[in-house]
Formats: sequence, structure tokens, C-alpha cells
Amino acid sequence: MNILLLGSGGREHALAWKIAQSPKVNKLYIAPGNAGTALVGENVDIKATDFTALKDFALTHGVEMVVVGPEDPLVKGIYDDFANDPRTKRIAVIGPSKAGAALEGSKDFAKAFMLRHDIPTARHRSITRENLEEGLAFLETLQPPYVLKADGLCAGKGVLILPTLDEARRELQEMLGGMFGAASDTVLIEEYLSGIECSVFVLTDGLHYQVLPVAKDYKRIGEGDQGLNTGGMGSVTPVPFADDAFMQKVRTRIIEPTVRGLRQEGILYKGFIFLGLMNVGGDPYVIEYNVRMGDPETESVMLRLKSDLVELLEGVRDGDLDRHVPEEDPRTAVCVMLVSGGYPEAYEKGKQMNGLDEAMATGSILFHAGTAQKEGQTVTNGGRVIAVCSYGATKEDALAQSYRAAGLIQFDKKYFRRDIGFDL
Ligand code: AMP
Ligand code: GLY
Repeated sequence: MNILLLGSGGREHALAWKIAQSPKVNKLYIAPGNAGTALVGENVDIKATDFTALKDFALTHGVEMVVVGPEDPLVKGIYDDFANDPRTKRIAVIGPSKAGAALEGSKDFAKAFMLRHDIPTARHRSITRENLEEGLAFLETLQPPYVLKADGLCAGKGVLILPTLDEARRELQEMLGGMFGAASDTVLIEEYLSGIECSVFVLTDGLHYQVLPVAKDYKRIGEGDQGLNTGGMGSVTPVPFADDAFMQKVRTRIIEPTVRGLRQEGILYKGFIFLGLMNVGGDPYVIEYNVRMGDPETESVMLRLKSDLVELLEGVRDGDLDRHVPEEDPRTAVCVMLVSGGYPEAYEKGKQMNGLDEAMATGSILFHAGTAQKEGQTVTNGGRVIAVCSYGATKEDALAQSYRAAGLIQFDKKYFRRDIGFDL
């Protein structure tokens, strides 16, 4: 089978690496891809949201399955675009319909969905300029800190956590005043949930579901989870507190009502569901839904997925996912992200990278996030540059291996966190 994977980050390199191992794959194309995906497949210079060009490419290259890495094409309706075009309706798009992608594209929709299906999540109010007074009154009923979220997609920047009521009142008005453009025309005020987070990845064919290895990511730039939010500085799988008892609650209270609720509402959903969960005293609450895999969780999760990913995706396509139980590697896997100095604020690109072969020779697996090829050299081309992923008998072993390999990779102003997994 020929597969077209969309996206260009570390997540997509990890997905491409895993897909390319399947004996079922004839050609793997990645649009637009990066320097890492070019090592395991063929990059195609088409944007992941250029549906017309993607369809033309798929038709002329015998593509039978499209795997969507990022949320953007899904929220813009790539599933429906392929399904409603008689030329491409037989090509399987792994991902939800536009209606299903609203679970990530609109936090207001996601909250209302959870309320309709009795899925545990933080109490909230959805506020616009019309009911600002209600929002200010709701803030008074909450304890600090205060959580404000823009309804729409903001590239991970639309959540503010504010220590005082005064700041919460002020920021609410700023957000409604266009701080995130139209994405914050509606703002959600949420009760703050205190606990520890984890990321649960589910594959569904619309009727059945399977759970992939559970991971935890590290979003802040600084050690001890201090400083600015980033696209993700590392990840660990498995997560010790996500034991059988916790996961049973996740299945019955969250996954099953989610899959059933989508079906009852007539929402087509054949793809990944990413549950951002808070463990509050042993009980799981949904912080957010995403309609794709996580980054940098995918980079470690793919190491622990022993089953053929393409077989699982065929189960999604064919509606018999119940017959494909994913097998997990018992080892721990970790991802340590090397980033450009200055990130997530201003940083420089185009720095020459050395030591990649030496790092790989130690047994670590490298997934490129922001690199490019320039005159035969690998250079930095983004804030997050490369994910150094390793297996270990324990978290400590896996991290020691990643740090050893990370030390061998050189580029000007390289930075990484040395405390990934510190809270597990
Ligand atoms: P989100 O973009 O919804 O994932 O939010 C970004 C981050 O804000 C999450 O990963 C959490 O760390 C934090 N967060 C969001 N909502 C809440 C909440 N209700 N209580 C506590 N922390 C939250
Ligand atoms: N790691 C969090 C995300 O992918 O949204």
C-alpha cells in the first residue's frame, strides 16, 4: 500500500519511522516532511492544508491511505474533502471528520460534548462580550489560580493561568477584546484542577477502540517545570500512576462515553483521540481533547508500540479495530528534545549540526523536529531541533542513554532539560 503522511515535525518523523517498518507499505510519502522523514520515505513539497494539491498527488501516486499528523488539516475538514470528492472517496483518511475535529478546534464544543455525555472535566463557563458579567461573577465563585482558555486554535498559546482575581478579570476582558483574534471571541473560564497530568492516546474506528502506550510530556522550557511553555521538551512512557485501576476509570468514564457519544451524535470519527488528562487524587479528568497524536509524546510512544502501526490503521479503516490489539514493549522509552538557545522566544537557525551519527551509534533513535539539509550538511531549522529517544529497563536507564547521546550532538547554543521524568 502507498501511504501519504501529512506534517513536518518530530511527531511525523516518529510516525514515518514506524510506518516504514511495516511490510504492508510499498511507498511512504510525507508532505511536506523534514530532513528526518526524508531518511525513511519520500518528501513531497505540498502543504498539509493544500487539499487540492494533496488529492491530485494521491490520485497520481496510487495513495490508498492518508495519515494526518497535525490538527490543522483535520479542523479545516480534510476528511470530508476527500470523502465528498468522487475521485478520492475510496482513499482512507485517518482522522476525524470536520465535526469530530471540533473536539480540538473548539474548546466550547468539547466542553458541551463532555457535559452531554457526563465525562469528568473541570467546571466552566463559556463567556463572550454579551455575557461578560456572568463571567466576572463566575470568577468570584472560584479559588485561585484562575484558568482562562480561548475557544479556538491558538498554536498552544490560548491558555492563561492567573494567580489573582484582578489579573483574571483583566485578562478575560483582554482576551474578549481580541488578544487571540477570533479564537478568543469566546473564552472559557475553568475551575483549576490540581494533580498530575498524563497523555492517553486512543485509536478508534468509530465503534471500537484501542489504547496506545500512555505518556507524560514536559511542556515548560525550564527544569522543575518553570518558565515559558514550549511545544514540548521531552516525554516518558509508561507513566507509573496510570496503572490498571486508573486506566479502567479512564476507559469507563472517558473513552467509552466519548466514542459512544460521537457515534450517537452522528459524528464520523476514525482516527486518533488524544486525551490530556489530570489525575486528581486517583480520578481522571479531561483537561483537553486533541484529535491527533501528541508531540513529543509520539516520539517515545512509537518506540513502545510493538504492533504494526499500519495494521492498526487498517483496522481503523475497515471498522474491525477490535481484532487488532496493540502490543506494548515492556521497556521504558523516553524522548529528550534538543532546542535552539533562546527558544521559545527569539532564536537563530542555520547552525551546523555535528555528531548525529555518533549519537545514533550509541543506540538512541533520533527524530528530527526542526532541521534542514544545506549543502550536504544538517543544520538547525527551528526552535525544537531534534528528539533524542531511548529505551531502558527503567526510566533512569533510558534517560541516562538519551543524555549520553544528547551530549554527542553539537550545535551552537544547544539546550535541553536534564530533568525529564523528574515528577514520576
Ligand atoms: P491546554 O492547552 O488545554 O492543554 O492547556 C495547557 C495547560 O494548562 C495544560 O497542559 C495544563 O497544564 C494547564 N491547564 C489547563 N486547564 C487546566 C485546569 N482546568 N486546571 C489546571 N491546569 C490546567
Ligand atoms: N504534547 C502536547 C500536544 O501535543 O499537544
